[in-house]
Amino acid sequence: MAPGPPAPSFPHTRMRRNRQYDWSRRLIREHRLGVDDLIWPVFVQEGDNTRSPIPTMPGVHRYTIDLLTDAVGQAGDLGIPAVALFPVVPAHRKTADAQEAHNPDNLICQAIRAVRDAHPQIGVICDVALDPFNSDGHDGILRDGIVANDETIAALCRQALVQSQAGCQVIAPSDMMDGRIGAIRTALDDAGREATLIMAYAAKFASAFYGPFRDALDSSGALKGASKNTYQMDPANGDEALREVALDIAEGADMVMVKPGLPYLDVICRVKDRFGMPTYAYNVSGEYAMLEFAARANAIDRDQAMLEMLTGFKRAGADGILTYFALDAARLLQN
Ligand code: PBG
Repeated sequence: MAPGPPAPSFPHTRMRRNRQYDWSRRLIREHRLGVDDLIWPVFVQEGDNTRSPIPTMPGVHRYTIDLLTDAVGQAGDLGIPAVALFPVVPAHRKTADAQEAHNPDNLICQAIRAVRDAHPQIGVICDVALDPFNSDGHDGILRDGIVANDETIAALCRQALVQSQAGCQVIAPSDMMDGRIGAIRTALDDAGREATLIMAYAAKFASAFYGPFRDALDSSGALKGASKNTYQMDPANGDEALREVALDIAEGADMVMVKPGLPYLDVICRVKDRFGMPTYAYNVSGEYAMLEFAARANAIDRDQAMLEMLTGFKRAGADGILTYFALDAARLLQN
């Protein structure tokens, strides 16, 4: 951004002149939120014909696969380019080695196949991380109380492969192990899956704003209060986020993500400025809950606040936003 010529001062310069009319405000508008910017994260659960609410995310549901395909169809009709699928795995399938993560017939692989079949025009993105499948709730495998980096990577590669083979077009590693992007890229390429994209959760912070997501997955119980801060980043660090992103790009990421969104707009801005990569913000569950509960208490106008928040991500430099508001935002943008 060039700073522009020095501004002559008041009264010759009146910033309000441009803001007088609706047409002039439209002409000077710098950023526009569009439906092409939206990625819809959706929760999938086992069973049939069931849609279960998530109490800490009012308005968000977990869908069985039959209803998931209908919901994804609605997203497609609204013009949303892609969905991100998250499995809710029942406790009896969770183990300390998270083997279910690389079962080619697990819930997420079945969901991928069903969605790709029903809606071939919509992009399917899936997390790679062990937490939905892990009896201790961590994103990696615990050895002697430590999340074991390299052993976890081997499991993540197998998980990425079964998801890609099921038809997932974008593998999104959200685990924050060191070196996983390069290892997953190699594993995919060696299996002839070089067309599969990687969207790296490159700068993912150890955040309190994931609370409602962990409720949705029932993974907070498994974690038993343990934190993820030996692998997710310290919220105080910005330069370190740039180092993380640089590594993921070097290892072969096609797209990079900053997560959460709202408290990290500066990081999004720096990442986009520095690397010029396709850059995404994850407007996470806690951010959704904050706005939703405030609106339900009549403290703010929900629709206006939602569009303002999503536009803020664009202004910061995001090319797209993963948001639980995707369907509602798309509907508002249509009108
Ligand atoms: C799993 C994962 C998390 C989220 C996305 N993938 C939670 C976590 O890392 O604990 C959070 C998404 C949200 O809060 O909306 N690795």
